[in-house]
Amino acid sequence: MTGNILFYGDNLDILRRHIGDETVDLIYLDPPFNSKATYNVLFAEKNGSQAAAQFKAFEDTWRWDQDAAKTYEEIVEGGKNIARTLIAFNELFGKNDMLTYLVMMASRLVELQRVLKPTGSIYLHCDPTASHYLKILMDASFGPKNFRNEIVWHYRKWATGKYAFQKNHDVLLFYFRSDSRKRTFNQLYMERAPSTLKRFGTSKIVSGHDETGRRVPSRTKQQESEGVRQDDVWAIGRVPPIKQLFPTQKPGPLLERIITSSSNENDLILDPFCGCGTTIAVAQRLHRRWIGIDITYLAITVIKHRLRDEFGEGVVDYKVKGEPIALPDAKVLAEQNPYEFQWWALGLVGARPVEQKKGADRGIDGRLYFHDEGLGGKTKQIIFSVKAGTTTVAHVRDLRGVIEREKAEIGVLITMQKMTQPMRSEAAGAGFYESQWGKHPRIQILTIEELLAGKRIDYPPSRQVNVTFKKAQKANKNESATQEPLL
Ligand SMILES: C[S@@+](CC[C@H](N)C(=O)[O-])C[C@H]1O[C@@H](n2cnc3c(N)ncnc32)[C@H](O)[C@@H]1O
Repeated sequence: MTGNILFYGDNLDILRRHIGDETVDLIYLDPPFNSKATYNVLFAEKNGSQAAAQFKAFEDTWRWDQDAAKTYEEIVEGGKNIARTLIAFNELFGKNDMLTYLVMMASRLVELQRVLKPTGSIYLHCDPTASHYLKILMDASFGPKNFRNEIVWHYRKWATGKYAFQKNHDVLLFYFRSDSRKRTFNQLYMERAPSTLKRFGTSKIVSGHDETGRRVPSRTKQQESEGVRQDDVWAIGRVPPIKQLFPTQKPGPLLERIITSSSNENDLILDPFCGCGTTIAVAQRLHRRWIGIDITYLAITVIKHRLRDEFGEGVVDYKVKGEPIALPDAKVLAEQNPYEFQWWALGLVGARPVEQKKGADRGIDGRLYFHDEGLGGKTKQIIFSVKAGTTTVAHVRDLRGVIEREKAEIGVLITMQKMTQPMRSEAAGAGFYESQWGKHPRIQILTIEELLAGKRIDYPPSRQVNVTFKKAQKANKNESATQEPLL
């Protein structure tokens, strides 16, 4: 049976290479979509009439380019309903950003349909900007007869925009994969209306409307009379910004409701756009197996932290595939995408990435906290700087300046390149941080080669276990990408 896997990479490629036909019980996907963007951004032709900043959010992903054209042709050549649908969209929009987005989605839906078991379900999370087009794509991929619900996730947020009603909902399109008699669907129940509660008391409530509905295993008449069947408008609060691990993080209770109703223990759940891993964390808590895929290393690093924080060090059994495990892979990542490289390198030492170029955090790529004075003692910090390219003694000097400014105990420079003698001397000049465990160099330089070989930062162990910032485990050699299908 497939265990839990976190994939780093493009989900189209990973689905095609690693996930077998009819192997997944439930799919939840929450593709990136900038709901702040206006319709105009997506429908604009390439004549430069839109502000450059507006386009930026879509620049990498949704511009019509050779890749989009190739994917479009592949789908069209494949025939079937999805091909006819894309041809119609092409007629309607021309080669604009909306078509690019829909082509991207169509190619993924073809693969998701393939990997879903006949008894399985899929939930596509989107917002009203494109939900009507996506429903047509879903009909083309899964069949209109398998459409179950358009779920409205209703939430509250600060007032935005004028000349329109406040936009306070997302849409979840729920489809079965087939009309198999064995399709999984566990009925959930909601709270009774206040007037009913007043009359009959609370003893018969099966679940709360604003919380996860509790599953009622079999649907006897008597049980149905015990609560009102869960409807398709879900009022669930958004994750408050202060608690967010990720800007697009979805609330756990939303995923609890989906996973409880559409899967059973030990089932395999797939989230191909897993972000900071809400689906994964909830699936884990509800004793399901899971596969998460994300194209940014930031997401993978955040999920590793999240699993450690929520379940404890080493408790969750999972593999990470697609991350560099040898120097040549790391070099490729450093050249192709310095930010991804940075996030990956910080993950190796258990540090948390810091958002870039925010005035106050100048020169800081990551942080890690420790407590060496026991319960109630001061929080100490290690500051990280990661260099994918040329590294000189000036970088070591800068880091010394940053740890002085931030009053940090230790500064760590992670480099792709080997250390030079002047860098070594500059680091030595910074002296030591002393703890009851001994002396720890105030400036430490670690190369990627050393980290991959298992070398770690020299700092005192936390006396009080700090679940958020414990030391990362050494990268597991088995965590390499494989070519053969997994399932
Ligand atoms: C809206 S977020 C998902 C948030 C997630 N539901 C959560 O609760 O954290 C979309 C995610 O999809 C990822 N992504 C975008 N394109 C991708 C691709 N082609 N393959 C895999 N992941 C992708 C982004 O990096 C981002 O983390």
